Amino acid sequence: VAAAKSAAANAGSLEGLKEALAAFPHCDLKRGARNLVFSDGTPGARVMIIGEAPGRDEDREGRPFVGRAGQLLDRMFAAIGLGRTPDRPEDGIYITNVLPWRPPQNRDPTAEEIAMMRPFVARHVELANPDFVVLMGNISCDAGLEKRGITRLRGAWTTAYGKPALPMVHPAYLLRTPSAKREAWADLLSLQARLRGGA
Ligand code: URA
Repeated sequence: VAAAKSAAANAGSLEGLKEALAAFPHCDLKRGARNLVFSDGTPGARVMIIGEAPGRDEDREGRPFVGRAGQLLDRMFAAIGLGRTPDRPEDGIYITNVLPWRPPQNRDPTAEEIAMMRPFVARHVELANPDFVVLMGNISCDAGLEKRGITRLRGAWTTAYGKPALPMVHPAYLLRTPSAKREAWADLLSLQARLRGGA
């Protein structure tokens, strides 16, 4: 973790941070992964979404949230006028994950893996400098808040990585539990209100 902290702190740009991750030798996940999955969307966007880890599709493409959960994520944010490649820069989203490498068989990341990647995520937020952070799912809440229990945490604004942060249920969960879409919609509206300068 000390090596992660200094590697992350020394990165002076998003590109530098990506290079620091590519060169980081201390995370075993890297060996099993095809690609480093760093980010997608609009750097400098007002909203930064932090997911869990790449799955099979993301590992293959080297981009976060491109599989079924990612397609749902795109539809969710499109419903409040936001997207990865928006017409207006202020409608952008910037997307990353806690883990930049796919865990074998999509297993949950270990506490050690999360702790090792946390300094990179913190630096990523600092460099991207969004107005708001969305913590997508339990692993993202663990990394950003050191808390789990997304059904309890979701919808309540908090602070993570020094930014106003909103925990939301993960779109992969919504694919399994469509009844939770009601809460996800409420959370999207809450984000939209913040973007408009409201509550
Ligand atoms: N789930 C995530 O948390 N991140 C991805 O990139 C894809 C699926």
